[in-house]
Amino acid sequence: MAPAASSRHRSRPFPSLLILTLALTLFATVTTKAQLSENYYDASCPAALLTIRTAVAAAVLLDRRMGASLLRLHFHDCFVQGCDASVLLDDTGSFTGEKGAGPNAGSLRGFEVIDNIKMLLELLCPQTVSCADILAVAARDSVGQLGGPYWTVLLGRRDSTTASASLANSDLPGPKSNLNNLLNTFANKGLSSTDMVALSGAHTVGRAQCKNCRARIYNDTDIDASFAASLRTGCPQQAGANDGALEPLDASSPDAFDNGYFGNLLSQRGLLHSDQALFDVGTTDDLVRTYASNSDQWGSDFVAAMVKMGNISPLTGTDNGEIRMNCRRVN
Ligand code: HEM
Repeated sequence: MAPAASSRHRSRPFPSLLILTLALTLFATVTTKAQLSENYYDASCPAALLTIRTAVAAAVLLDRRMGASLLRLHFHDCFVQGCDASVLLDDTGSFTGEKGAGPNAGSLRGFEVIDNIKMLLELLCPQTVSCADILAVAARDSVGQLGGPYWTVLLGRRDSTTASASLANSDLPGPKSNLNNLLNTFANKGLSSTDMVALSGAHTVGRAQCKNCRARIYNDTDIDASFAASLRTGCPQQAGANDGALEPLDASSPDAFDNGYFGNLLSQRGLLHSDQALFDVGTTDDLVRTYASNSDQWGSDFVAAMVKMGNISPLTGTDNGEIRMNCRRVN
């Protein structure tokens, strides 16, 4: 009897250790991997979504291109460290931010619109709505304001306390990319080739600078001759000349969120080398044809891909990141 009692006694720590481990794992999962949710601000800031929508509508009414710029801002946020508003941070003594990185410098726009929204939200519900969520909702509302589809944005992202210029340089796709580069860049973020092609349709709005299409309009052969000729008039061949001159990414309907972008690709009128790469005797040709002829199909694939992109590595729970008071600075 005595040995049995003592062996029962010795075995006690194991179940309790197991329970403790399970409890800690569960706790860690709950605190670090909380899910984004549709109704995140319903109780804590009921006016959040209306405030963002109103401010975006006003900004796009004043400057239609702003809708495109806000959409791009969310993309450039999500591809670098995840959707954590790192793109909005100014440089500090301890890190060089993303604003000065190659794909962003002299190109990203819309920071003041986000600042204004944040200022309003800090008055309404201090330190509640993250800058990362503002970017996601502003992107959705921009698309709506330009006549594109609507979707539900999942919420609850928190803001990073760091940014990375080097990740911005390595993880964002460039305008000289070929199809393989593009597929890899998106695959690295968990996005499929369908997501990549559907998301590229965002180039149905907005502008690109001469320096980003120069090589294409002077060197590429898969470009419509009259399209190239008309672009050359505003964008001289000499490096540095008129670098910042703007051209519409979708010449057929520059500010409407429609599937015109894909029709352009069929007639070799993609503005960027990376645009035309989607329709250049490759694996994505069929999808481009489908989107050019079926706007609803593109709309639903675009929405699904935007939701996926918005879910890239968010900071959630209480231990990760913070709710910045000013989107340009950590608290
Ligand atoms: C597929 C790879 C992509 C490449 C290589 C690319 C590259 C570029 C480049 C070079 C510009 C012009 C920047 C300038 O000249 O200042 C631009 C503009 C733009 N991009 Fe992309 N992009 C890509 C994907 C996306 C995605 C996924 C989105 C959004 C979902 C997006 C949204 C935009 C918008 C809306 C503009 C116009 C911005 C404005 O007018 O302010 N792009 N992109």
